[in-house]
Amino acid sequence: MNMLTLKYLQLVLLLVFSSRYTIAEKKTQYSKSTFIIHMDKFNMPTSFNNHLHWYDSSLKSVSDSAEMIYTYKHVAHGFSTRLTTQEADLLAKQPGILSVMPEVRYELHTTRTPEFLGLNRASTVLIASGKQSEVIVGVLDTGVWPELKSFDDTGLGPVPSSWKGQCETGTNFNLSNCNRKLIGARYFAKGYESAYGPIDETLESKSPRDDDGHGSHTSTTAAGSAISGANLFGFASGTARGMATQARVAAYKVCWLGGCFTSDIAAAIDQAIEDGVNILSMSIGGGTVDYYKDFVAIGTFAATAHGILVSNSAGNSGPSQGTLSNVAPWITTVGAGTIDRDFPAYVTLGNGKQYLGASLYNGKLPSDSPLPLVYAGNVSNDSSGNLCAEGSLIPRKVSGKIVICDRGGTARVAKGLVVKKAGGIGMILSNNEQYGEELVADSFLLPAAALGEKSSNEVKKYVFSSPNPTAKIAFGKTQLGVQPSPLVAAFSSRGPNAITPKILKPDLIAPGVNILAGWTGAVGPSGLDIDTRHVSFNIISGTSMSCPHVSGLAAFIKGAHPDWSPAAIRSALMTTAYRTYKNGQTIEDIATGLPATPFDYGAGHVDPVAALDPGLVYNATADDYLNFFCALKYTQIQIKLIARRDFTCDKRKNYRVEDLNYPSFAVPFETASGVKGGSHAPITVKYQRTLRNVGNPGVYKVTVSSQSPSVKIVVEPQTLIFKGLYQDLGYTVTFTSTSKPSGTTSFAYLEWSDGKHKVTSPIAFSWT
Ligand SMILES: *[C@@H]1O[C@H](CO)[C@@H](O)[C@H](O)[C@H]1NC(C)=O
Ligand SMILES: *[C@@H]1O[C@H](CO)[C@@H](O)[C@H](O)[C@H]1NC(C)=O
Ligand SMILES: *[C@@H]1O[C@H](CO)[C@@H](O)[C@H](O)[C@H]1NC(C)=O
Ligand SMILES: *[C@@H]1O[C@H](CO)[C@@H](O)[C@H](O)[C@H]1NC(C)=O
Repeated sequence: MNMLTLKYLQLVLLLVFSSRYTIAEKKTQYSKSTFIIHMDKFNMPTSFNNHLHWYDSSLKSVSDSAEMIYTYKHVAHGFSTRLTTQEADLLAKQPGILSVMPEVRYELHTTRTPEFLGLNRASTVLIASGKQSEVIVGVLDTGVWPELKSFDDTGLGPVPSSWKGQCETGTNFNLSNCNRKLIGARYFAKGYESAYGPIDETLESKSPRDDDGHGSHTSTTAAGSAISGANLFGFASGTARGMATQARVAAYKVCWLGGCFTSDIAAAIDQAIEDGVNILSMSIGGGTVDYYKDFVAIGTFAATAHGILVSNSAGNSGPSQGTLSNVAPWITTVGAGTIDRDFPAYVTLGNGKQYLGASLYNGKLPSDSPLPLVYAGNVSNDSSGNLCAEGSLIPRKVSGKIVICDRGGTARVAKGLVVKKAGGIGMILSNNEQYGEELVADSFLLPAAALGEKSSNEVKKYVFSSPNPTAKIAFGKTQLGVQPSPLVAAFSSRGPNAITPKILKPDLIAPGVNILAGWTGAVGPSGLDIDTRHVSFNIISGTSMSCPHVSGLAAFIKGAHPDWSPAAIRSALMTTAYRTYKNGQTIEDIATGLPATPFDYGAGHVDPVAALDPGLVYNATADDYLNFFCALKYTQIQIKLIARRDFTCDKRKNYRVEDLNYPSFAVPFETASGVKGGSHAPITVKYQRTLRNVGNPGVYKVTVSSQSPSVKIVVEPQTLIFKGLYQDLGYTVTFTSTSKPSGTTSFAYLEWSDGKHKVTSPIAFSWT
């Protein structure tokens, strides 16, 4: 499924894969739709002594028949219900109602990674094991397949005493499916069912069971137990393990065949807070609306205020600029990079030229002799036939041939199926400039290879110029140690941050391309209904995969430092991230082959071992975010919607987004209109930060590296002397810029070091 085709506002499971969720949209059979009602609980009329009665009476005042679907406790003061638009308008005008928001439907958008991240070093295991088994990772997704060995609880002690959750039973799921690894499992279907009618239990389980695969993959990536001998059809074999093998998993199933609904997501976050999770992993993407209108932002704010670190996927809409989702500053926003592992496939043309591609097909072409090769755009009478959309190929022209299909528009594995159905024997999946050299390996149902943009262009040139073009496809063995790695994935969503340009996003990148982790027993690895293969592990790609890496690594840090706040853990992960290869070159963007920037990778690629001992952290509290809302000029009601606090901004105070204690800097300069070539007075802006010592006493000195001669950067003071643990010291950075043409960007790095630790922050300048 191509994320760019999803134009309407929705959340998507951020996976660059999956056709299960392109099923025809079911018509809702009611003229009512779901709304989430936020109530002004601080101003409940004195005639009520129970807020639920008050909610109910407000609802009954506009509709006799409406029932509450969920009532919310932590994420909102309020409830969800089904109303006609007329009733919703009427309700919005009642006293005590803060807002009536229509529900949003969010659609469904490792063997190698522990070594790649340096997690296999014995010393690391020792430091980190500490209290890791006390850490609970909640995963909001499609549920779990509990029989996976990755949920084996051998060697784990009793369930943490802090845990207040449950193992909910339902279709194909009973109490014995939970254990000391999978300590909780719940499902949230009321919102979904009130929109779509009862769940069809012949198609999906009304229980925490995962009939899709996505949730099993993300939860085992975060905290699966170590399983030796893992592989997919012999690919990527080795020991598969989550990032925090001792941490516990709690599954919250919120996504169903028809999508993920905000009323269910809000209820799941509410419950996860109540249950006592420490880390929340959400590979679900939101739209780009103001925080007080965004359910992911609202729900995750409540979680953060309860000390829960929330890790979210950045989105799969790259490489275009400004395509991020989940940008709220209390969320850890994770982009995706490649690792040092390839799944090679070789395409040999009739002219003798050979090209290297990628595939997870486990078989051979029926014959060793070359087969006729055609371009899908030439064997279709549909204007987008080049994409091999369903039914677009003319069988007479495809039969017995290898077909070149362009990437985009539909799921990659689904294109292979279209070729197969039309009688084709093989497929070459060709990248255009949008995807560049990014090779995503897929478990195709026919012999197929994905090729990068350059190779694709040459193959097409050959087909268009040769009278009888032919090709062969062959498949190789898994390759390790591939360099350079990581590369920023082409699909990984990019900054700048469209909602708050002064906060840099994404925060960091983590492995998200061709990742092996646990899978469901309900569908094959391609996710296609006709795929009857059964696998325990699958290799898939997306920021959906990078997000649970960071969730698991946050659990790993939390295990070593149980008292660190979500902001402190994120700061440790960000300020120790790396941006260069061993040879000193900057991490590349696979879409362009050029050095990537903080708009692509944020603070850089996660380095969990370094994050265990960051030296200093940029901490933040719930109050800091309230000040942030004041800086955004949010009204008292808007603040109440997110923070459930009756908070009034102090009119005498000068609140500034620049002063939110963030571990990175985004500095948008306005280019004065009518001034061309930058001949007006320089612009000066000041940012304030506070560092907290979480290591030994030390003298930290600042250095600034900048690419831009047009911005002067001054840090005050230049030295910070930390005398004790948890001491806080502040500093100010002043940026002075001459005007540059609109659209220009430039980058710098600010680093505090005591000679041992390096506490590094990226700075992204943009002229708008
Ligand atoms: C629970 O499920 C397991 C595995 O699916 C099954 O073996 C067991 O008999 C079930 N137990 C009960 C009490 O239904
Ligand atoms: C095949 O398609 C390409 C690209 O659209 C076009 O340039 C070429 O002329 C077509 N070839 C034939 C034989 O139609
Ligand atoms: C292509 O067009 C022909 C003639 O209009 C039509 O009969 C045929 O069904 C079409 N084939 C496909 C695959 O759309
Ligand atoms: C960060 O601030 C929170 C809230 O004040 C506090 O509980 C936490 O201990 C701090 N974290 C660190 C590492 O000092």
